[in-house]
Amino acid sequence: MSLKPLIIAAALLPLWASAAEPQHFGLRADIPLEQTSPAPGLKPVLKESGRKSLNYVNQPPLVPHKVQGYQITQSTNRCLQCHDVDNYLTTGAPRVSPTHFTDRDGVVQPQVAPRRYLCLQCHVTQADVTPPVANDFTGLGQFAKD
Ligand code: HEC
Ligand code: HEC
Repeated sequence: MSLKPLIIAAALLPLWASAAEPQHFGLRADIPLEQTSPAPGLKPVLKESGRKSLNYVNQPPLVPHKVQGYQITQSTNRCLQCHDVDNYLTTGAPRVSPTHFTDRDGVVQPQVAPRRYLCLQCHVTQADVTPPVANDFTGLGQFAKD
Protein backbone atom coordinates (compact mmCIF):
# COMPACT_ATOMS: atom_id res chain seq x y z
CA MET A 1 0.00 0.00 0.00
CA SER A 2 1.25 3.45 -0.84
CA LEU A 3 2.01 5.66 2.15
CA LYS A 4 0.78 8.81 0.40
CA PRO A 5 -2.95 8.65 1.25
CA LEU A 6 -2.03 7.87 4.85
CA ILE A 7 0.26 10.88 5.10
CA ILE A 8 -2.39 13.18 3.61
CA ALA A 9 -5.01 11.80 5.99
CA ALA A 10 -2.65 12.40 8.94
CA ALA A 11 -2.01 15.96 7.76
CA LEU A 12 -5.74 16.69 7.52
CA LEU A 13 -6.54 15.22 10.92
CA PRO A 14 -5.67 18.37 12.95
CA LEU A 15 -7.90 20.47 10.64
CA TRP A 16 -10.80 18.13 11.18
CA ALA A 17 -10.16 18.04 14.94
CA SER A 18 -10.00 21.84 15.23
CA ALA A 19 -13.28 22.23 13.30
CA ALA A 20 -15.02 19.90 15.73
CA GLU A 21 -13.58 21.46 18.91
CA PRO A 22 -15.33 24.46 20.52
CA GLN A 23 -13.13 27.55 20.19
CA HIS A 24 -11.35 28.90 23.25
CA PHE A 25 -9.91 32.36 22.85
CA GLY A 26 -8.21 32.53 26.26
CA LEU A 27 -6.62 35.93 26.83
CA ARG A 28 -7.99 37.15 23.48
CA ALA A 29 -11.53 36.99 24.96
CA ASP A 30 -14.00 37.06 22.05
CA ILE A 31 -11.80 39.04 19.63
CA PRO A 32 -11.54 37.01 16.39
CA LEU A 33 -8.14 35.59 15.51
CA GLU A 34 -7.76 37.76 12.40
CA GLN A 35 -7.95 40.94 14.51
CA THR A 36 -5.15 42.27 16.71
CA SER A 37 -6.25 42.15 20.33
CA PRO A 38 -5.11 44.85 22.76
CA ALA A 39 -2.64 43.57 25.36
CA PRO A 40 -4.43 42.85 28.64
CA GLY A 41 -3.58 45.21 31.52
CA LEU A 42 -1.03 44.17 34.14
CA LYS A 43 -2.67 42.40 37.06
CA PRO A 44 -1.86 43.47 40.62
CA VAL A 45 0.71 41.04 42.02
CA LEU A 46 0.09 39.94 45.60
CA LYS A 47 2.55 41.82 47.81
CA GLU A 48 3.32 39.08 50.33
CA SER A 49 1.47 35.80 49.98
CA GLY A 50 3.58 33.27 51.90
CA ARG A 51 5.55 30.44 50.28
CA LYS A 52 3.40 28.17 48.12
CA SER A 53 3.43 24.39 48.14
CA LEU A 54 4.64 22.72 44.95
CA ASN A 55 2.22 21.20 42.41
CA TYR A 56 4.75 18.71 41.03
CA VAL A 57 8.24 17.48 41.81
CA ASN A 58 11.00 19.79 40.50
CA GLN A 59 8.62 22.70 39.94
CA PRO A 60 10.37 26.08 40.17
CA PRO A 61 8.73 27.46 43.35
CA LEU A 62 6.35 30.39 42.80
CA VAL A 63 7.53 33.85 43.85
CA PRO A 64 5.46 34.79 46.92
CA HIS A 65 6.33 38.53 46.87
CA LYS A 66 6.31 41.55 44.56
CA VAL A 67 9.24 41.88 42.14
CA GLN A 68 8.39 45.27 40.65
CA GLY A 69 11.55 47.34 40.15
CA TYR A 70 13.90 44.43 40.92
CA GLN A 71 16.65 44.88 38.34
CA ILE A 72 18.58 42.09 36.68
CA THR A 73 21.45 43.35 34.52
CA GLN A 74 24.87 41.98 33.59
CA SER A 75 26.45 43.60 36.65
CA THR A 76 23.67 43.35 39.22
CA ASN A 77 20.98 40.82 40.12
CA ARG A 78 18.50 42.09 42.72
CA CYS A 79 17.13 38.59 43.35
CA LEU A 80 20.56 37.26 44.29
CA GLN A 81 21.11 40.18 46.70
CA CYS A 82 18.60 38.42 48.93
CA HIS A 83 18.66 34.80 47.73
CA ASP A 84 22.37 34.09 47.05
CA VAL A 85 24.39 31.82 49.35
CA ASP A 86 26.28 34.82 50.82
CA ASN A 87 23.15 36.77 51.70
CA TYR A 88 20.27 34.47 52.56
CA LEU A 89 21.03 34.17 56.26
CA THR A 90 20.83 37.92 56.83
CA THR A 91 17.85 38.55 54.51
CA GLY A 92 15.78 35.54 55.57
CA ALA A 93 15.13 34.62 51.91
CA PRO A 94 15.17 30.92 50.91
CA ARG A 95 18.64 30.06 49.59
CA VAL A 96 19.02 29.73 45.82
CA SER A 97 19.00 26.05 44.89
CA PRO A 98 22.38 24.25 44.61
CA THR A 99 21.29 23.00 41.15
CA HIS A 100 21.56 26.62 39.93
CA PHE A 101 25.36 26.52 40.09
CA THR A 102 25.76 23.79 37.47
CA ASP A 103 26.45 25.16 33.99
CA ARG A 104 25.26 23.59 30.73
CA ASP A 105 28.36 21.38 30.58
CA GLY A 106 27.55 19.93 34.00
CA VAL A 107 30.40 21.81 35.72
CA VAL A 108 29.61 23.32 39.15
CA GLN A 109 30.49 27.03 39.14
CA PRO A 110 31.30 29.30 42.10
CA GLN A 111 28.43 31.62 41.08
CA VAL A 112 24.90 31.00 39.80
CA ALA A 113 25.31 29.66 36.24
CA PRO A 114 24.32 31.92 33.31
CA ARG A 115 21.42 29.62 32.41
CA ARG A 116 19.93 30.28 35.86
CA TYR A 117 20.68 34.02 35.95
CA LEU A 118 17.31 35.29 34.64
CA CYS A 119 15.26 34.10 37.61
CA LEU A 120 11.86 35.24 36.30
CA GLN A 121 12.25 32.99 33.29
CA CYS A 122 11.19 30.13 35.58
CA HIS A 123 9.98 31.62 38.89
CA VAL A 124 6.76 33.56 38.46
CA THR A 125 4.71 35.85 40.68
CA GLN A 126 1.05 35.32 41.44
CA ALA A 127 -2.01 37.52 40.87
CA ASP A 128 -5.57 36.90 41.97
CA VAL A 129 -7.30 36.50 38.59
CA THR A 130 -9.99 34.38 36.97
CA PRO A 131 -8.31 31.85 34.64
CA PRO A 132 -9.19 32.74 31.01
CA VAL A 133 -9.53 29.05 30.17
CA ALA A 134 -10.85 26.49 32.65
CA ASN A 135 -8.65 23.49 33.34
CA ASP A 136 -8.85 20.48 35.60
CA PHE A 137 -5.14 20.09 36.41
CA THR A 138 -4.66 18.31 39.72
CA GLY A 139 -1.52 19.22 41.64
CA LEU A 140 0.65 16.81 43.57
CA GLY A 141 -0.85 17.92 46.91
CA GLN A 142 -4.46 17.15 45.98
CA PHE A 143 -3.40 13.96 44.24
CA ALA A 144 -1.55 12.71 47.32
CA LYS A 145 -4.69 13.17 49.46
CA ASP A 146 -6.90 10.95 47.21
C1 HEC B 1 14.46 42.03 49.72
C2 HEC B 1 14.83 40.64 49.65
C3 HEC B 1 14.34 39.81 48.45
C4 HEC B 1 14.50 40.09 47.11
C5 HEC B 1 15.18 41.29 46.47
C6 HEC B 1 13.92 38.98 46.40
N1 HEC B 1 13.40 38.06 47.27
FE1 HEC B 1 12.49 36.31 46.83
N2 HEC B 1 12.08 35.98 48.80
C7 HEC B 1 12.47 36.80 49.85
C8 HEC B 1 11.96 36.26 51.09
C9 HEC B 1 12.17 36.88 52.48
C10 HEC B 1 11.21 35.10 50.75
C11 HEC B 1 10.44 34.19 51.69
C12 HEC B 1 9.01 34.74 51.80
C13 HEC B 1 8.15 34.00 52.76
O1 HEC B 1 8.63 33.17 53.51
O2 HEC B 1 6.92 34.29 52.73
C14 HEC B 1 11.33 34.94 49.30
C15 HEC B 1 10.78 33.90 48.59
C16 HEC B 1 11.03 33.66 47.24
C17 HEC B 1 10.69 32.44 46.52
C18 HEC B 1 9.97 31.22 47.10
C19 HEC B 1 10.96 30.11 47.36
C20 HEC B 1 10.31 28.87 47.88
O3 HEC B 1 11.03 27.86 48.05
O4 HEC B 1 9.10 28.85 48.13
C21 HEC B 1 11.10 32.60 45.23
C22 HEC B 1 10.96 31.60 44.10
C23 HEC B 1 11.70 33.92 45.13
N3 HEC B 1 11.64 34.53 46.36
C24 HEC B 1 12.22 34.44 43.96
C25 HEC B 1 12.72 35.73 43.84
C26 HEC B 1 13.06 36.35 42.58
C27 HEC B 1 12.93 35.68 41.22
C28 HEC B 1 13.51 37.60 42.86
C29 HEC B 1 13.96 38.67 41.90
C30 HEC B 1 13.02 39.05 40.85
C31 HEC B 1 13.47 37.76 44.32
N4 HEC B 1 12.95 36.62 44.87
C32 HEC B 1 13.90 38.88 45.00
C33 HEC B 1 13.25 37.92 49.73
C34 HEC B 1 13.63 38.54 48.55
C1 HEC C 1 15.76 27.53 34.09
C2 HEC C 1 14.82 27.66 35.20
C3 HEC C 1 15.27 28.39 36.46
C4 HEC C 1 15.92 29.61 36.57
C5 HEC C 1 16.38 30.53 35.46
C6 HEC C 1 16.06 29.86 37.99
N1 HEC C 1 15.49 28.84 38.71
FE1 HEC C 1 15.35 28.70 40.73
N2 HEC C 1 14.55 26.84 40.58
C7 HEC C 1 14.21 26.20 39.40
C8 HEC C 1 13.72 24.87 39.69
C9 HEC C 1 13.25 23.85 38.64
C10 HEC C 1 13.75 24.72 41.10
C11 HEC C 1 13.35 23.47 41.92
C12 HEC C 1 14.30 22.33 41.69
C13 HEC C 1 15.71 22.70 42.01
O1 HEC C 1 16.02 22.98 43.18
O2 HEC C 1 16.49 22.75 41.07
C14 HEC C 1 14.28 25.97 41.63
C15 HEC C 1 14.45 26.24 42.99
C16 HEC C 1 14.75 27.51 43.49
C17 HEC C 1 14.66 27.87 44.90
C18 HEC C 1 14.22 26.96 46.05
C19 HEC C 1 15.42 26.29 46.60
C20 HEC C 1 15.07 25.23 47.60
O3 HEC C 1 16.02 24.71 48.24
O4 HEC C 1 13.90 24.87 47.77
C21 HEC C 1 15.02 29.19 45.01
C22 HEC C 1 15.08 30.05 46.26
C23 HEC C 1 15.35 29.64 43.65
N3 HEC C 1 15.18 28.59 42.78
C24 HEC C 1 15.77 30.92 43.36
C25 HEC C 1 16.20 31.32 42.09
C26 HEC C 1 16.82 32.59 41.79
C27 HEC C 1 17.08 33.70 42.81
C28 HEC C 1 17.11 32.60 40.45
C29 HEC C 1 17.85 33.65 39.66
C30 HEC C 1 19.20 33.98 40.10
C31 HEC C 1 16.63 31.34 39.89
N4 HEC C 1 16.10 30.58 40.91
C32 HEC C 1 16.67 30.97 38.54
C33 HEC C 1 14.35 26.73 38.13
C34 HEC C 1 15.00 27.92 37.81
